[in-house]
Amino acid sequence: MNSLRVLGIESSCDDTAASVIQVFFDKGEYCEAKIKSSIVFDQGQIHNKFGGVVPELAARAHTEKLDLCIEKALIEADQRLEKIDLFSVTSGPGLIGGLISGVTFAKALCLGLNKPLIGVNHLAGHALTPRLSHSTKYPYLILVASGGHCQFLIADGPQNFTRLGGTIDDAPGEAFDKTAKILGLGYPGGPAIEKEAFDGDPNAFKLPLPMIKQKNCDMSFSGLKTAIKREVDLLLNKSGQFTETEIKNLCASFQYAMVQIFVDKTKKAVSIFKNRYPEISHTVAIAGGVAANKSIGLALKKISIDLDFNLIIPNAQLCTDNAAIIASAGSELFIKKLFSPETLIARPRWPLDENAAPMIGFGKKGRKA
Ligand code: KG4
Ligand code: ZN
Repeated sequence: MNSLRVLGIESSCDDTAASVIQVFFDKGEYCEAKIKSSIVFDQGQIHNKFGGVVPELAARAHTEKLDLCIEKALIEADQRLEKIDLFSVTSGPGLIGGLISGVTFAKALCLGLNKPLIGVNHLAGHALTPRLSHSTKYPYLILVASGGHCQFLIADGPQNFTRLGGTIDDAPGEAFDKTAKILGLGYPGGPAIEKEAFDGDPNAFKLPLPMIKQKNCDMSFSGLKTAIKREVDLLLNKSGQFTETEIKNLCASFQYAMVQIFVDKTKKAVSIFKNRYPEISHTVAIAGGVAANKSIGLALKKISIDLDFNLIIPNAQLCTDNAAIIASAGSELFIKKLFSPETLIARPRWPLDENAAPMIGFGKKGRKA
């Protein structure tokens, strides 16, 4: 068994992250990895008052914190920089300023130390998380649900993904964040809504379930926050305010709508996956920040029993943005000799499945994800 010490760097959105992992591989196959350190400097405080990420502020904060973050990851892992075998950096998709900060920093390190550098697709980092957390074997079905993305993918290899469907508008995390903003709960909205929903009534408000009648795995989330806005306006018109209980009920109803959409669409994705691979034992995983939501996880656990699949939910620290998943995804590419060019650049738009039809954000600069 061979091993590699890998340093991962993530700066595609609002988290500056660095991680040291040790990856074990044999005969050109990734076997398992141990996380030695995983440091995340989250920028929540900077963006909180704006109710969303401000790209320029994010880029500046990454530039200011990257060196400290990497230093901390090395110290915590008791690892000397010179002994790192491979550097792995998120090179897209994401906010251009943050990506440039990370890629430039990583390139400078590799040039100075004469070490290899791999550019990683941030979504591949999320989609490959089960490989790091549970040493899951290919192929598996993965739902990546985060603040910027949402798609069902069959993962056949570190660079081999088939998209079965995805959101046609907002990402689910974005819907959580926008709804939290409407309710005055701050940013990021997911954990805040989950907390409020805990003792709310999920049936108090009847919200729409967009696209649930369609037979495909596509989803739509933007109507949900509009429905919440309408309910809030109705409450305000009636009594000029909304109560603590109404906030809890709105959160519980919103979260329940999310759960129903994910349950319905996961069933459809599992059916496609099973048709494609009838003979294997089926594994379904969920990753990305929204996978940290316990109600969604519990609902998927329930259907995993009925539909006979093995459900994998990596722990919350690996679901939200971090650099361990980037280090791990980079090592998989390296082991398979899928090297990055020396001219590696930030790529803000970068779909995981290049063959799939564009869903959102298609413009003259190309597909978003
Ligand atoms: O994957 P991630 O850390 O960053 C992106 O790549 O987007 O995901 C962040 C998103 C945010 O929108 C946040 O509100 C959401 O994940 N999130 C959650 C929870 N924790 C984070 N959404 C629902 N429930 C949660 N517990
Ligand atoms: Zn992410």
